[in-house]
Amino acid sequence: MSIISYVNGSYVDHKDAKVNIEDRGYQFADGVYEVFAVINKQIVDYDGHINRLFRSLNEISLNSPIVKEAYIFHIRNLIRKNNIHDGLIYLQVSRGVAQRDFKFPTKIKPSLVITAKSISMENYYSKFKQGIKVKITDDLRWKRVDIKTLNLLPPVLAKQKAVENGCEEAWMIDSDGYITEGSSSNAWILIRDKLITTPATNSILKGITRTSLIRALKRKNIKLIEKRFNKKDIKNANEAFITSATQFVMPVIKVDGYKIGNGKVGKYAHMFKDAYMEAIQLK
Ligand code: PDD
Repeated sequence: MSIISYVNGSYVDHKDAKVNIEDRGYQFADGVYEVFAVINKQIVDYDGHINRLFRSLNEISLNSPIVKEAYIFHIRNLIRKNNIHDGLIYLQVSRGVAQRDFKFPTKIKPSLVITAKSISMENYYSKFKQGIKVKITDDLRWKRVDIKTLNLLPPVLAKQKAVENGCEEAWMIDSDGYITEGSSSNAWILIRDKLITTPATNSILKGITRTSLIRALKRKNIKLIEKRFNKKDIKNANEAFITSATQFVMPVIKVDGYKIGNGKVGKYAHMFKDAYMEAIQLK
């Protein structure tokens, strides 16, 4: 079965899905994106992701090429056309096609691309049982990482460094020595029974998975502290995690070669993953 993607108003065979080489997404990373998980043919936390997309668009003064209500229609079409049971939807809006010039061109239509792929929840659960290893890298990003822009070179370099060091994720550290977040996830540590995550300022992307987990933990009376943490705090942690639309809740068992707790997936990881899975909104 061929894969179907959405490009600027048409559903096309993925092999034929193309954008112009003068698209400003390609030339300048001038655009924003979202990643939605699909579980059981339904979109996970749709409202959170679509609202964040519109916030990102607004922050870079880009108009949506379609009305807000139309996005779910196209996403659902792709889920159906690609027969996705569990999967990921990638959606990107760029400023559109124009001759290369830094300032905003006038009278161009933004480009919209949506793609879908299947994932295996069994792979997720088996990765969860193993946990992942994290490498600490410098946070080389700009000052507005709260906007989900296409400008991803620093996280690409961070993730590559992690992989070259036998790790699955990078935790980026700022010039004050604090962890901001993962290259494509939010970062959490647990010290005794206190869960700590970086506050949602301009220095991190306010993850939709992060918001859902916080909502879930409130119901379970878990003590959450939104504050910055450093390498010393990581050494005192008994458990650690990342969250994202692609990894859900994923335990971290080693940071820079240092074992978290006993180096195995802990009981809170299971509790948080279960609480998160119960709290997600499916649409
Ligand atoms: N990344 N922080 C960063 C820098 C991210 O890129 C992401 C997500 C998150 C988690 O956000 P959410 O829970 O809304 O997925 C935090 C996506 C998955 C990606 O770029 O593939």
